Formats: sequence, structure tokens, C-alpha cells
Amino acid sequence: MALRQAVAALPSAALLLPPLLLAVASAGLSGYFGTKSRYEEVNPHLERDPLSLGPAAARSRLPAACAPLQLRALLRHGTRYPTAGQIRRLGQLHARLLRRSAACPATADLSAWQMWYEESLDGRLAPQGRRDMEYLARRLAARFPSLFAARRRLELASSSKHRCLQSGAAFRRGLGPSLSLGSDEVDIEVNDSLMRFFDHCAKFVALVEENNTAMCQVNAFKDGPEMQKVLEKVASALCLPVEELNADLVQVAFLTCSYELAIKNVTSPWCSLFSEEDAKVLEYLNDLKQYWKRGYGYDINSRSSCILFQDIFQHLDKAVEESKSSKPITSPLIVQVGHAETLQPLLALMGFFKDDEPLKANNYVRQAHRKFRSGRIVPYAANLVFVLYHCDQVKTSEEEYQVQMLLNEKPMLFHHSNETISTYADLKNYYKDILENCHFKEECELPKVNVTAIDEL
Ligand SMILES: *[C@@H]1O[C@H](CO)[C@@H](O)[C@H](O)[C@H]1NC(C)=O
Ligand SMILES: *[C@@H]1O[C@H](CO)[C@@H](O)[C@H](O)[C@H]1NC(C)=O
Ligand SMILES: *[C@@H]1O[C@H](CO)[C@@H](O)[C@H](O)[C@H]1NC(C)=O
Ligand SMILES: *[C@@H]1O[C@H](CO)[C@@H](O)[C@H](O)[C@H]1NC(C)=O
Ligand SMILES: *[C@@H]1O[C@H](CO)[C@@H](O)[C@H](O)[C@H]1NC(C)=O
Repeated sequence: MALRQAVAALPSAALLLPPLLLAVASAGLSGYFGTKSRYEEVNPHLERDPLSLGPAAARSRLPAACAPLQLRALLRHGTRYPTAGQIRRLGQLHARLLRRSAACPATADLSAWQMWYEESLDGRLAPQGRRDMEYLARRLAARFPSLFAARRRLELASSSKHRCLQSGAAFRRGLGPSLSLGSDEVDIEVNDSLMRFFDHCAKFVALVEENNTAMCQVNAFKDGPEMQKVLEKVASALCLPVEELNADLVQVAFLTCSYELAIKNVTSPWCSLFSEEDAKVLEYLNDLKQYWKRGYGYDINSRSSCILFQDIFQHLDKAVEESKSSKPITSPLIVQVGHAETLQPLLALMGFFKDDEPLKANNYVRQAHRKFRSGRIVPYAANLVFVLYHCDQVKTSEEEYQVQMLLNEKPMLFHHSNETISTYADLKNYYKDILENCHFKEECELPKVNVTAIDEL
């Protein structure tokens, strides 16, 4: 703190900070990268040992009499490269800095930085993303040996995006030949209606995706006082007039800091433009967008995921039925690879990470301790796992089927009980309304202008 104050009082000294000091100062930013966060941010023990099951493993122990019947894992793809649009904007920003570098010696580090991203990388899975998936597969297999080690069928589905297909293949490779899941070549079923339901939901597309007004809180925050302060600081550090910068360019600079850490494990000179306070503001901007586009902002965001929700419970039902009639379980392992945009709406539909107040442009300070922090919920390789157990009961009247949910390998508390395990019956009862009334087709239909006229055609 003392250092930052001294630096603020002496801007010219700040610009001459040795690189080592800058690196130390920027190390604290990685907790604010939102959806561009590394998976290690939510599971720091993996930095020491990527195969460790971590401290949470002990807490999730079940009664010895329970055996897993079915595991469904919904994954976000691993670490990816920036999209073509982000790369283009970064190229423009970098070129502008190079032109000014003679007049702004303080940005020497940034001028020396090589623009190595090419537009063709366009959101593809990075080598780190493959490692994210391989290690995740190995940890899940270690946690549920009876499901993964036995010669069981693995159903692997994915969104059609290249990074998801590659993530699915990497996950499969992580399980290795020793796991006897059949041949190493695995068919990945592309299923965008499950993994990219948002694209197929006409009401979501019209009301949110293609509607500028829908993002009014996000846009208001971009023009608000918190962002303005960040803009002025960054402009001054880059020796640019503040009019030449805008929220989108500042975001690109911050994104680059996050990408360089996630993809290359380095603290890039781009990070030195931001303090921890700036990072919190930019994290909030990212969360606002997630909130209004994928979270509680509009009902249709979460309702569009009904198709996935229903599919999960249909498979659980089927496994319970098969178990009751002593049949083998048709789908013991279901792994599906999608996006942050796949997981976030489903978690909202199920009521997780909901704050008392909505996230808005004007309540940044009041939301400092919000639950809705994308970086904690959907970092790269985020995973939501449903596990169905069959439990031998001493008393026959007790429910035999139990369910656990793990988010990023940590057991979640069910809202109806505050426990990390629930009977399947209680869980279904808690979500009765969604199970009975949430159907993709009806939810996603655009309101018809004149129903009668169409009916009579
Ligand atoms: C996608 O999954 C849904 C639900 O399981 C299923 O009804 C549909 O047939 C699948 N689509 C494809 C293309 O496999
Ligand atoms: C766009 O969003 C605004 C704000 O939610 C809403 O009032 C309006 O009806 C939406 N427009 C369309 C075409 O859905
Ligand atoms: C990333 O860099 C840090 C610090 O330089 C190092 O300790 C760590 O082992 C690196 N991680 C990986 C996965 O290379
Ligand atoms: C769960 O715990 C929270 C906080 O302790 C409490 O407010 C809530 O009422 C509890 N819910 C149930 C269903 O017990
Ligand atoms: C709907 O269409 C019918 C048949 O074309 C017409 O008689 C009726 O006035 C229309 N209603 C509205 C509300 O536009």
C-alpha cells in the first residue's frame, strides 16, 4: 500500500519501476480474470501437483455403503487462444503503441513485446488447454475408480466448436489405454442442441443476443466513473490522449495479460498497466456481461438451458430404473464438452450463485462480495459433475438413490438441505417445477403476433 501511494505521488518514478517490481505488482491480478481465469485459480493445489485431488477430496467422502452408478460431467473447454476479433484489436492497440514508443519511454517493455498472436488462432484450444483436460480426466478417474476403471462405456459429446472437440479428445486421451474404455479412438458426438442451446433458442437470440438494449447495464458501466478512472490511468501510462482509448481497448489490454498467463504461464508487460483495483473494475465489467447475457439478468438466459436440465434428469431416471430392475446401466459415464455459456445458464436455472440484488452499473461497491463471480464459477476447464449413487440401506424404507453435485471438483451444497448429498427423490422434488414446466420448445418460442391467424392457415 505504502508503495502504491509513493508511486501515485511520483508518476515519473512509477514509470521507471524495474521490471521485477512490476511483475510482483501484477501477480495479484490473476484472481480477477473472470471467464479467462486459469483453472488453478479455483484449485490452487493443482499448481504444485496437477494430479492431486486436493483438500476437498476428504470432505466429500460418502457412507461406505454407496457406490456410484452414473456420472455426468459437463465441461467447459480448456484454456484457449483469443478470438480473431480480440487478436485484431490487440494488433491495432499494439501498433499504436509502437508508433508512440519514442515519445513514451515508459512503455519500453510493451514496445519490446512481440505480437505473436495470429488471427488464425481464433479461439482454438491452446496446448495448456489440452493439459487442462488430460489432467482433469485423470483426476476424475482417480476419484471414481469403480466407474472409470471398469470396462465401462463412455459417452462423449461436444459442441461443434473446434476447441470443444479438441478438449473432448484430450479428455479421452487423459483416461489412457490402461483404463480399458475400448479403443483409444473415440467417437465424439456433436450435439449443439444440448451444448449450444443458446444459439437455438429464438427467444434468447431476439431478446438478448441480438438486442443492444439488453446490455444497457454493461454499456452504462463502460461509460461510468469506475471505468473512466481506469481509462485515464491507462491512457496516461501509455502516453496516449484519453480520447484515443475506450473501454473495449482497455479490456483487450487486460485480456492479453490474462491470456499470457493462462497460455504461456508468464506475467506479460500488459499486466503492468493495471493495479489490483483496476482489475476488480474490469472483473466486474466481465461479470456484468455474464450476468445479463448468461445469468440471472433475464429469465430466458437460464430457461434456454431446460433442454440440458431435462436431459440430465432423464438419464438419472433411466439409471435408477435400470438399477431397480437389476439391469446393467446403459450410460454409466456421460462426458459433454461445451462452453462457459453452457454451464452458467444451467447453474442459474438451478438457483446457484444468486445475489440478493442484481448486478448493475451503479452498484459496483455494494457488489464487492457478490456470489456471482464468473472466475470462481466458470474458469477454463470448469466442470459440473452429477454423480448418482446406489446406497445399501440398513432400513429398507430409506431412499437408496443419492446424488452429489461437484463444481470444479468441489462438492456443492444443495439449497434445499445445505448438505453435499441429497436423496434423488428430494432433489427431484426441489426442482419439481422446472422438471414439469420447463420445456425448451415452449420457453424458446417467440411470442406469436397472431396465434389465431396462424392456427387457421
Ligand atoms: C442431442 O441430444 C438430445 C438429447 O439427448 C437428443 O434428443 C438429440 O437427438 C441429440 N442430437 C444429436 C444430433 O445427436
Ligand atoms: C430488448 O431488451 C429490452 C430490455 O430488456 C426489452 O425491453 C426489449 O423488449 C427487447 N427487444 C426485443 C426486440 O426483444
Ligand atoms: C508457472 O510459472 C511459475 C512461476 O514462474 C512456476 O512456479 C510454475 O511451475 C509454472 N507452471 C507451469 C505449469 O509451468
Ligand atoms: C442453509 O444455510 C443458510 C446459512 O446458514 C441458511 O440461511 C438457510 O436457511 C439454510 N437452508 C436450509 C434449507 O436449511
Ligand atoms: C388475427 O387474425 C385473424 C384472421 O386473420 C383476424 O381476424 C384477427 O383480427 C387478428 N387478430 C389480431 C389481434 O390481429
